[in-house]
Amino acid sequence: MTENRVLRGPLLSFREDPGGEDQPEAGSVLYLEDGALWLDHGHIRAVDDYTRLAPSLPPGIEVVDYSGKLMMPGFIDSHVHYVQLDIMAAYGRQLLDWLNEYTFPAESRFVEREHAEQVAEVFLDELMRVGTTTAQVFCTSHPVSVESFFIAAHRRGLRMLAGKVLMDRNAPEALTDTALGGIRDSERLIGDWHGKGRLGYSLTPRFAPTSTRQQLDATGSLLRSAPDLYLQTHLSENHGEIDWVAELFPEARDYLDVYERHDLVGPRSTFAHGIHLTLEARARLAEAGANVAFCPTSNLFLGSGLFDRLACHKVNLAFSLASDVGAGTDLCGLGTLKAAYQVGQLLGQPLTAWQGFYHLTLGNARALHLDAHIGSLREGAEADIVVLDPRATPLLARRTAHTKTLDELLFALMMLGDDRTIFETWAGGKCQHRRDVA
Ligand code: GUN
Ligand code: ZN
Repeated sequence: MTENRVLRGPLLSFREDPGGEDQPEAGSVLYLEDGALWLDHGHIRAVDDYTRLAPSLPPGIEVVDYSGKLMMPGFIDSHVHYVQLDIMAAYGRQLLDWLNEYTFPAESRFVEREHAEQVAEVFLDELMRVGTTTAQVFCTSHPVSVESFFIAAHRRGLRMLAGKVLMDRNAPEALTDTALGGIRDSERLIGDWHGKGRLGYSLTPRFAPTSTRQQLDATGSLLRSAPDLYLQTHLSENHGEIDWVAELFPEARDYLDVYERHDLVGPRSTFAHGIHLTLEARARLAEAGANVAFCPTSNLFLGSGLFDRLACHKVNLAFSLASDVGAGTDLCGLGTLKAAYQVGQLLGQPLTAWQGFYHLTLGNARALHLDAHIGSLREGAEADIVVLDPRATPLLARRTAHTKTLDELLFALMMLGDDRTIFETWAGGKCQHRRDVA
């Protein structure tokens, strides 16, 4: 198989945060109308105008033509549960009932290797179909759910973060581990998978209510012992959850303090939701260099609340964008952007298309400390690319035919685009998905 080719067509990538104004800050955006990405053994060897690059290309190199399309860095999902794929769209509950009624029974099935392997493959097929080339993934408390996921991601050459859920109380027996057994399993999985190929390990205490102090403590020690490990959990998503945490941890001054007391809040920690937080708690997260995952479709679906991006901005707290499937209703980053815009509108803080696509790519890569590898189209980056089709549907074709600026085109894609808009997905230099062309 040839590992060396050129993708030619319009391309967009961010060099910096474009800022929140209507127009991006000078120098923050790279847009080439007739661009070229020279792919070489899974990496981007050069990015330039096609005509400028052409003289330095080896004779006979394959050039794939994407005129009329738009190339971007592959999308990143900072928080998603692969094991909840089959309970998306479960009716009518808020968080705690939804967990007990739908989530825990579904997760109990991941004790079976065959089930885990099958769902891992379907999930990764779906990620490729929606243009997501990297995700930070919750598995279940069963080590086999993690092995199955990593094996499938490794075989495909994907950059993924994942981890075994730690939960040693307040959940069905089929899902609980023990404080130390859970840590031992995590250590073994870290040894087998962290840093293998493009994979990384996230320590995954589900959320404060399902771990004992002993388990949280042991998790904190492990995180401190290996500063390149990640941590993912949930924080301040729902009022019932917050009240429960206050009952379970009366010594803590607030929900975040539970995690702080156990040394779980660091620069590689992702806290999903973080909706109901004081400005002071946000400032503490910012101080630690942590990020909060904004999961707009999930927050709307479970009725959890409206995420205040500007409050984060005020204290310099990084947020990432996430689907949070199975509570989220859309795996596709375009769906996440559409909902993020709508949530922003309800708070009087609309999200520009520049901000949206920045966060879905370079912003998320930075939040996850992966920007040395992914998140932008630049020389030396890994070749993870999504090719969008602005004419994917008759309606989208009609609407985008009327756009006069790149800004308008991006906004139309963000509001009207969906999985059909993803024409191709490349990861690790290989085409991993091509939309069926009628
Ligand atoms: N809090 C604890 N577990 C979960 C989960 O699986 N999904 C969501 N949305 N919130 C959680
Ligand atoms: Zn979640």
